[in-house]
Amino acid sequence: MAESQANPIKRPVLDGIVTEEEVARTETYWAIIMLGMLAMMMAIIVVTGMTNALHPPSNVETIDPTTLHRGGEFAESNLGTAVEPDGSVTARVIGEQYSFVPDCVRVPVDTPVKFRLTSADVVHGFLIPSTNINTMVVPGFIAEVRTTFTRSGEYWMPCDEFCGDGHHGMWARVNVVPKDQFPKLARTERTSCAK
Ligand code: CUA
Repeated sequence: MAESQANPIKRPVLDGIVTEEEVARTETYWAIIMLGMLAMMMAIIVVTGMTNALHPPSNVETIDPTTLHRGGEFAESNLGTAVEPDGSVTARVIGEQYSFVPDCVRVPVDTPVKFRLTSADVVHGFLIPSTNINTMVVPGFIAEVRTTFTRSGEYWMPCDEFCGDGHHGMWARVNVVPKDQFPKLARTERTSCAK
């Protein structure tokens, strides 16, 4: 090695053996690269967070998760399906460890449905397979998703965000009924199909 010959104090090293100095130099070199990458990723997070206003899925609407049950939009009497003046429906649901309240929502087919969801504790997921609905339900925020069910029947809505020991059992249902049948139901039956 040219380097070790230039320094007479150093003994020449055997082929394939790397000197301590070289190991230290390489380690420092890579540590600097790693720190640089970390700093760059951190900067990307901070800059995009500030300039692109990163926020939860759907909209930024906040709510105090500790007082949900005491009144306001997510009071117990206000949960489930409500018919709007324009004929569309709004379904309000709370996700909490480990259930949705109400655990069954009844809506009419071929009608715009707006789900408004929030969490009382941790982050949950709200997914209705074979529809466009898939959102995170974050405590402190109201998630709003819209869809129109094109066929009646039963849809399952699992929590698809790991939320603790009982996550696998956190399911709810949407019961989509024919459009002409919906107004004939009693008020409590329209609101929810929870048993
Ligand atoms: Cu709630 Cu998983």
